[in-house]
Amino acid sequence: MAVLVTGGLGYVGSHSAKLLLERGEDVVYYDSLLYGHKEAALGGETVTGDIGDADKLRETFSKYKIDAVMHFAALASVGDSVVNPQVYYQNNIAKSLTLLQVMLENDCKQFIFSSSAATFGEPQVIPIPEDHPKDPTNPYGRSKLMLEHILAEYDTAYGLKSVSLRYFNASGADPDGKIGEDHTPEGHIIPIIIQQVLGQRESVKIFGTDWPTPDGTCIRDYVHVTDLGQAHLLSLDSLRNGGPTNVFNLGNGNGYSVKEVIDVVSEVSGKPVNAVPAPRRPGDPARLVASSDKIKRELGWKPQYADLRTIIETAWAWHSKHPNGYGD
Ligand code: UFG
Repeated sequence: MAVLVTGGLGYVGSHSAKLLLERGEDVVYYDSLLYGHKEAALGGETVTGDIGDADKLRETFSKYKIDAVMHFAALASVGDSVVNPQVYYQNNIAKSLTLLQVMLENDCKQFIFSSSAATFGEPQVIPIPEDHPKDPTNPYGRSKLMLEHILAEYDTAYGLKSVSLRYFNASGADPDGKIGEDHTPEGHIIPIIIQQVLGQRESVKIFGTDWPTPDGTCIRDYVHVTDLGQAHLLSLDSLRNGGPTNVFNLGNGNGYSVKEVIDVVSEVSGKPVNAVPAPRRPGDPARLVASSDKIKRELGWKPQYADLRTIIETAWAWHSKHPNGYGD
């Protein structure tokens, strides 16, 4: 049986697919290549297709024996989602419904979904547990929350079992150095700082230095992309063993400010960072830190790269060797 990995040539998808391949699973990468990189495939089979293309999906399900889907394909820029919600709901909801429909047609009922900390909105308590109230502050987060609700209903109605994994700040790169992060344009803080250190940017803008945090900059919970991948494997095992539909947070429970992240990149790279204060970015919560006790308790998740310095070392190793990403 094979695992269909939608968005498998993107950042979190490719790191999860690598772990699947390493433990001998058959992997079918399914990616539109709009944002993915064909070099990120490390084996298995690759289908170039859109998740909204029902015929292509049907063809793929008839060609391969697929028992589970890991669904990474989505648009994932918070700012863009505010400017163009239509495109976000179309991609992240409507096209996901097409994928679920083709799965049900093929009696494939195991689904692992890339959800997000953006489902919570502004937190009322830190660390944030799974049952914290959900009030997304942007269409991206709302699209993820809506799909979580849809998945709960598809279990009740059709017996489709799913695990939704709410990533906090995915970061770092494959510790073997084979794959890494490559977004165009780059919007995430760690690669942006590294690009500055590599001379590809004039400066790093710190979005807000007047937040109600100890050093005035936003606090986030950075979680290594390989640890996210391990959580996908555990979720797959749980579903294959008859486990229930579930939702888990994925973070390390440690919050680091933007200034702290800048300092660690500077230490790891041995170079100064040119960081300049800039206005707050609309929609940013001051502080997002996960409680991931539930997945540790229920699925035995054990992050291997929890330390921020280790996370940044793996990111630095990838970016300094591939300053133009997969283009190198
Ligand atoms: N930041 C800067 N300067 C930059 C880029 C980011 O100061 O040039 C700050 C942001 O304001 C934020 C922190 O760095 O405080 C992290 O920002 P990222 O853009 O790297 O990540 P986000 O926390 O905004 O977003 C992540 C995921 C989203 C997810 C969100 C949940 O990338 O997919 O967490 O809130 F929706």
